[in-house]
Amino acid sequence: MTNDTLRLADRMQHIAMSPTMKGTMEAERLRREGVDVVDLGAGEPDFPTPAHIAAAAEQAIKRQFTKYTANMGILPLREAVGSRYQQDYGVTYRPDEVVITAGGKQALHHAALALFGPGDEVITHMPGWPTLVEQIKLADAKPVIVRARAENGFALTAEMFLAAVTPRTRAIILNSPGNPTGALLSEVEARILAAEAARQGLWIVIDLCYERLIYDGVPHNLPKIFGDAMRDRLVLAGSTSKAYAMTGWRCGWLAAPKPVASAANALQSHETSNCSSITQHAAVAALTGPQTCVTDMLAEYKNRRDQVLGWIAQEPRVKCAVPQGAFYVFPDISSFLSPNGVRTSLEFADQLLQQEHVVTTAGEAFDAPGFVRLSYAASLETLHEGITRLARFARRSAG
Ligand SMILES: Cc1ncc(COP(=O)(O)O)c(C=O)c1O
Repeated sequence: MTNDTLRLADRMQHIAMSPTMKGTMEAERLRREGVDVVDLGAGEPDFPTPAHIAAAAEQAIKRQFTKYTANMGILPLREAVGSRYQQDYGVTYRPDEVVITAGGKQALHHAALALFGPGDEVITHMPGWPTLVEQIKLADAKPVIVRARAENGFALTAEMFLAAVTPRTRAIILNSPGNPTGALLSEVEARILAAEAARQGLWIVIDLCYERLIYDGVPHNLPKIFGDAMRDRLVLAGSTSKAYAMTGWRCGWLAAPKPVASAANALQSHETSNCSSITQHAAVAALTGPQTCVTDMLAEYKNRRDQVLGWIAQEPRVKCAVPQGAFYVFPDISSFLSPNGVRTSLEFADQLLQQEHVVTTAGEAFDAPGFVRLSYAASLETLHEGITRLARFARRSAG
């Protein structure tokens, strides 16, 4: 046997492990050594899952809802997604147009596999969530990256996507509110993009996983705007993870025209079968129960965002856009970098962890060197301590 037989499939030459996990693993190691680690790396809410949601899961276990479900998910949950979207956006999705998945991540993967293939170009944006790019590659299509600019608050514009369209463009994937920037595609830009995408026959996939976490009441009815212009080429991916503090439960969904939903259902029937039956019952409680848990968490995130921005503003060398959604700030720390000191934001995040025991995520993870992501899914006390240590480290390393 030659060594060649030991090699992995070609596709693995192009797929990277999610880079956001590295800091988490190192922080875990330091914690085990008893180090007082301040974690601003979390990509998930620090709140507990609301009690009425957890109670619905307990009930599901007691009532023996512990067997396989329909691959697409239980009907009450697909209906609940439909009514949420009806209430929140005024759009109609029938139960056979909704597939319940193991998190928004799987919904997006299904969309990629259902729609993209060799020869297709798929446009997405950076700084952004790396999974969207890897999923395009997993579907054997070519990612085309467009860049949002820090000086514009990382705002997504129709023009930046449309300028990248070629005859091979199959789709545009948007993440709004975005990770790591918290930026949105505004409704004005959405209208322009939707009209043009409809005219050119492009698909639009929208990652709405942070859709319930938007501050200051900024209107963001992308489902209606794109739906009115091009419903037959629109895929929406959502999730209970961030809105209801349910990351570990693994529940998301895809809402799409029936052929895409059927394709996602077929894919899922050979992969995970169904999202956990217990989780699905909990998700019905989340989507149909009182929504005050969401608004309460949102108010707390907003309070933290404003405090964090205030603390960061005390350091004039750091520039930081105001995020309109999600729970991250993404400051530019490049003025602390130098060829003879800390050279990159990756080194910055590594050394900040080693010297001051603060976990952040380097901009490199989001294709944006020179930045670091700080998550404010942490208590105000933790945030204050983390930013104090970060500022101390930054000043020291810049000399
Ligand atoms: C931008 C974005 N989309 C989607 C997801 C997927 O989340 P989940 O699979 O937990 O629904 C995440 C998770 O971090 C994310 O940051």
